[in-house]
Amino acid sequence: SLPKKVKIVEVGPRDGLQNEKETISAEVKIELVNRLTAAGFPNVEAASFVSPKWVPQMATSSEVMHGITRKPGVVYSALVPNMKGFEAALEAGVDEVVIFGAASEAFSQKNINCSIAESIERFREVATAAKQHRKRLRAAVSCAFGCPYQGEVPLDAVADVVRRFRELGCDEIDIADTIGVATPDKVKPVMETAIREFHIEGLSGHFHDTYGQALANIYASLQTGITIYHSSVAGLGGCPYAKGATGNVASEDVLYMMQGLGIETGIDLNAVVDAGQFISQHLGRKSVSRAGNAIAAK
Ligand code: HMG
Ligand code: MG
Repeated sequence: SLPKKVKIVEVGPRDGLQNEKETISAEVKIELVNRLTAAGFPNVEAASFVSPKWVPQMATSSEVMHGITRKPGVVYSALVPNMKGFEAALEAGVDEVVIFGAASEAFSQKNINCSIAESIERFREVATAAKQHRKRLRAAVSCAFGCPYQGEVPLDAVADVVRRFRELGCDEIDIADTIGVATPDKVKPVMETAIREFHIEGLSGHFHDTYGQALANIYASLQTGITIYHSSVAGLGGCPYAKGATGNVASEDVLYMMQGLGIETGIDLNAVVDAGQFISQHLGRKSVSRAGNAIAAK
């Protein structure tokens, strides 16, 4: 049977917007985050303290964190690649530090300019600092289902990096389909591999929707018992270091599916649809959320 309740982490303000070419003002990002927390998301990935030379759109992360209305109980997360990023995240009042590695060597080099082993050493310091400051610690495992540079990613590589993140004391680990290549039959073995290495309550599915498989992949993950999913309002996004990859699965689509399945999320779908229309208008294009557009047209 499927879980009765899931946690949906909204990653649109970070994963969704990081790849936008035109600079989006901090003001718009702040309003987006506020709308998303008002809609009921318990966790919003609001910022990324990476090098602005690598990802210019995230350069306003401190401003965004300082500008938002903090909703009590909400966990505000940010990507943190190294100690420089940690200091900035700490100053900005981030609740959850997200370190991000990969199950693919080639992707690790392209995305964070170091090997998997080197990244773990870099993250060790960040993890220790996060614990000292009583921050939640989450880790993303990119390319768990395939890599844009090396293709196939063996299950052993996923197991290995999940284990290393567990050893760093992570509270949560994201199993990510960075380029959206997984199909439901592939989801089960990867998730089961992760479940063998880490407590299931702390594992999440982070699916990009490049090939239109994300909802089916979430359904397959639900069948393995995973209860945390990432999504992006209006289906925004794409990774700057994964060419051709499109956004995360749209939050509206995930919420519509959960509602239909009778799975509790605590999130107001109509309010998310409004947030999706708001950001799409700002970006000057139509939302790619099918459910969002259908509901907005009513
Ligand atoms: P590097 O060039 O190897 O690092 O980059 P470095 O230590 O040599 O520093 C180079 C310059 O960057 C220096 O400045 C540093 O001060 C600066 P300079 O001396 O040249 O003026 N710098 C920083 N500035 C601000 N904040 C920092 C920071 N660190 C260094 N934290 C580094 C290594 C990791 C920094 C770089 O590769 C980087 O920032 N990469 C980020 C890439 C990224 O953000 N990718 C997208 C997010 S991952 C993703 O989307 C996947 C995910 O969604 C899951 C999935 O779908 O798979 C999470
Ligand atoms: Mg992603």
